[in-house]
Amino acid sequence: MLGHWAQTVLERCDQLAACSEVPGQITRTFLSAPMREVHRQVRGWMEHAGMQVRLDAVGNLIGTYPAAIPEAPKLLIGSHLDSVPDAGRYDGVLGVLLGIALVEALAGQRLRFALEVVGFSEEEGVRFGVPFLGSRAFAGNFEEKLLELTDIAGVSVAQAIRDFGLNPAEIAPSEGDYLGYLEFHIEQGPQLEAEGLPLGIVEAIVGQSRLEFEFTGQAAHAGTTPMHLRRDALAGAAQFVLDAERLARETPGLVATVGHMAVKPGAGNVIPGAVQLSLDLRHARDAVRLEALERLGHTARQIAHERGLGVAVAAKLEQPAVPMDAWMQSQLATAMQELGYPPYKLQSGAGHDAMILAQRMRSAMLFLRSPGGISHNPQEAVLPEDVAAALEVGLRFLECLERSLPG
Ligand code: GLV
Ligand code: MN
Ligand code: MN
Repeated sequence: MLGHWAQTVLERCDQLAACSEVPGQITRTFLSAPMREVHRQVRGWMEHAGMQVRLDAVGNLIGTYPAAIPEAPKLLIGSHLDSVPDAGRYDGVLGVLLGIALVEALAGQRLRFALEVVGFSEEEGVRFGVPFLGSRAFAGNFEEKLLELTDIAGVSVAQAIRDFGLNPAEIAPSEGDYLGYLEFHIEQGPQLEAEGLPLGIVEAIVGQSRLEFEFTGQAAHAGTTPMHLRRDALAGAAQFVLDAERLARETPGLVATVGHMAVKPGAGNVIPGAVQLSLDLRHARDAVRLEALERLGHTARQIAHERGLGVAVAAKLEQPAVPMDAWMQSQLATAMQELGYPPYKLQSGAGHDAMILAQRMRSAMLFLRSPGGISHNPQEAVLPEDVAAALEVGLRFLECLERSLPG
């Protein structure tokens, strides 16, 4: 029975994987054209499951399955529907579809709380460099200046929202009394596989800083400019990338990534005059991350000084580590133990919407094993039996919540 729903979830992940900005890969950024088709399909599944569906002003798709009684609180379940470039098919999407499958598996049974399943419009921070646009709006944490961010084509967040037929002036937090938020997500790392376990409870999500550096030098002729007279922005940027890698290798638990670089003017016979690069820095302890951030700022200035370059830094995200709610974790642990799954706990190195929701309500995450530990990659995978296990634990978790309510 749950195997059937698990199969349905996986088939739906395949169907949504076909909705992409780039033929032949999965690339779906904030409110891009293929998101309309994603919404059409997800809305259909939600409605078929007996949910009332709405789209909020930032493009979050929300389905509500009413409670047995009026004025009941809600449990929110969800994740995000956007993706990184050339993504896998489960990051985010799986958590939304598991929420819908849980409602379907209830087969019409009403609970003493409503279920709200949400597909957040943006979590990855790809199009505008700043993540969590969907969950920030939902949680009432959407600063107005976010609307002015622009993408690579110069389109602002406000314009992207209008282009999708929505009104940025209507962005408002979701109202109501929430028992909490539960996010199912693939682990995206190797720990559960190494332990031989299908599922794990997230204790905390590590903090992250995202920045953009720009090194500026002098664009000049590659054939005529002697080496000692060059101000090569890319050579400085390359030195910075290696220094960041070295610092992270030397600092236990620190991860540093330069995942994007734009070289201008970008021709083989022109010395690079300017380079923009991203830096993503994460650690479970905020103090370690912040110290590394300061050191890398100093490193960038030092490199620029030695090479006669300019350097500018823009902070895109400063997100402290977030513990998951202890009570929600205990309910998940009870559900797992009752079903014979060890309630293994782990930290998340990836960022998640649950980090943002935790500012508004009790939040928890259940991780599913990631075969090969691979994610942000088209080879991302999940095992059908682990999806069935997540559904089983999810249903038992709902029972645990029912038991915990007074009366
Ligand atoms: C989200 O996937 C992240 O970058 O952590
Ligand atoms: Mn991701
Ligand atoms: Mn994700």
